[in-house]
Amino acid sequence: MSRPLILAATPVPAHLEEKLKQACEVIKVPRGTRPSDSVSAEQAGQVEGLLCNPAVPVDAALMDALPALKVISNFAVGYDNIDVTAAASRQIIVCNTPGVLDAAVADLTIGLLICLSRNLVHGDTYVRDGSWETRGAPPLTQDVRGKTIGLLGMGRIGREVARLAQAFDLTVLYHNRNRDPQADESGLAEYVDRDALFARSDFVSIHVPHTPETENSIGKREFDLMKPSAYVINTGRGAVINEPELIEALKTDQIAGAALDVMVQEPLPADHPLCKLPNVILQAHIGSATTETRLAMITLATENLLDVLAGRTPKAVVTPS
Ligand code: 8YV
Repeated sequence: MSRPLILAATPVPAHLEEKLKQACEVIKVPRGTRPSDSVSAEQAGQVEGLLCNPAVPVDAALMDALPALKVISNFAVGYDNIDVTAAASRQIIVCNTPGVLDAAVADLTIGLLICLSRNLVHGDTYVRDGSWETRGAPPLTQDVRGKTIGLLGMGRIGREVARLAQAFDLTVLYHNRNRDPQADESGLAEYVDRDALFARSDFVSIHVPHTPETENSIGKREFDLMKPSAYVINTGRGAVINEPELIEALKTDQIAGAALDVMVQEPLPADHPLCKLPNVILQAHIGSATTETRLAMITLATENLLDVLAGRTPKAVVTPS
């Protein structure tokens, strides 16, 4: 029997590429190329697996261009790059990489919270540009202890942030579509309604997925609810925040600041208005970007793909659920 043909539209380490090649014919898709454009029409009709990442849009037209496709394995926990409804209606299994990146993303979230409170980015500049010598000690910052963090979204990553936040004596609030009985009973976090989360938090941290319902769901209305001393932290997806309204709230000091690991446009152009704001910390979508975590993610994504093609149940399936 011939081996299934797969498209690798995300880089794969050598040992995993070897593993893929033992079971499949592998065609690598160059970065920025639509996967169906990297194969002949005959090959397109034979592709059974697609390994991809959030920078690869996987829409219904792509699925139609690859009519033998059985599995789309995303190298990410988020899957807003994939039309999962179109996949489900074509009986294509969609897989992702939950769990293995929770700690890395939660660590970054707490790191950003500390950077915001203690003004660490400006503090570094203050030393390097000689301000310490010429102007004396930098302005005082704020304690982390005793503040309140509000988690919008209480999935795996939200729960891990809550766990870490307890070590800093933060009061942890959460709002989620469904209440988390475990969080409620263990005292990990207090459930509050959505408006109370924005009104009471010193840090609002976003951990909801990007869906049609959550897109642009945080904007002027929410910033109006927030304290002027409060910060927004986003390590989820940029499109959940209405960016022009966030920029306005930051420019007018309606809120104290923001730390953003994700933006609507990625990579963020250096001349973007967000890059001009002094009260914003920006990162280049690095939530999961540690050597160990990325290896765990690409291993899981590879195994998911191979499992489906071999008729086994993959470890992490988005659809069918
Ligand atoms: C990406 C992410 O996986 O997991 C997610 O949803 O956004 C990131 O961790 C990363 O960019 C690698 O594709």
